Amino acid sequence: MNKRTTPLIVGNWKTTPATKEEAVKFIKALEKKCATSKKKLPKKSYYLAVPSVFIAHLAPLAKHGYIGAQNVSGQSLGQTTGGEIPSQLSSAGASFAIIGHSEVRKTGETQEARAIKVALSLQQNLTTIFCVGEKTRDKEGSYLKELEDDIRISFTDIPRNLFSNLIIAYEPVWAIGSKTPATPTECFEVVIALRRAIASLIGIDYAKKVHILYGGAVTKDTATTFLEEGGVDGLLIGRSSQEIVAFFDIITTTH
Ligand code: PGA
Repeated sequence: MNKRTTPLIVGNWKTTPATKEEAVKFIKALEKKCATSKKKLPKKSYYLAVPSVFIAHLAPLAKHGYIGAQNVSGQSLGQTTGGEIPSQLSSAGASFAIIGHSEVRKTGETQEARAIKVALSLQQNLTTIFCVGEKTRDKEGSYLKELEDDIRISFTDIPRNLFSNLIIAYEPVWAIGSKTPATPTECFEVVIALRRAIASLIGIDYAKKVHILYGGAVTKDTATTFLEEGGVDGLLIGRSSQEIVAFFDIITTTH
């Protein structure tokens, strides 16, 4: 099986690094590596979801990639304390936002709140990476139905013309932060189920085209296998994006 598209390599820095200075140093070093890479890379070869306070500092430096947010507030402009709404993130320099990451879901984010966040983020022209993934697997495969339902409920009210800016990330919760990723076969099975859910919601043409990423314990040793055998168009990477050599290795091995 072949890679379908130019891979989307998305890093998720989570609550790292500790300071703006470290973040700037990382991006400058990564940019240097991209600029002098022996392997020919596309003009933009990485996405990095960073702590939101760093976005305005990093976006102007990221010539070979995109800087984005790890979450958005679903509140409207006004009198709510805490969180950044999509227009604020976008004007700070964010090109994209992750929504529905399991670590955000865990804090009590509701299905309804997620659907609002997706709509607001897309309306603001942020490329929106929506995460889904099962907590556990059962032999009967009911987790597939759970994931399909999640997609249907979250996207039902999204205007069709906004879908082109939506990306889905399959992140099995049991793989995130663990030593063991899903197998490419396990990933492929879910990708088919997700495309099926999208086809019934929006149509088969879009379902074939939508970019789907895999995330959960990806390293440079497993990255290419997911693209070649897992049916995905890119990767969402936590730990291996927080270390410059590991992240750059993934960028070069996958392109
Ligand atoms: P991990 O995290 O690569 O460290 O497992 C992935 C994620 O949380 O997106």
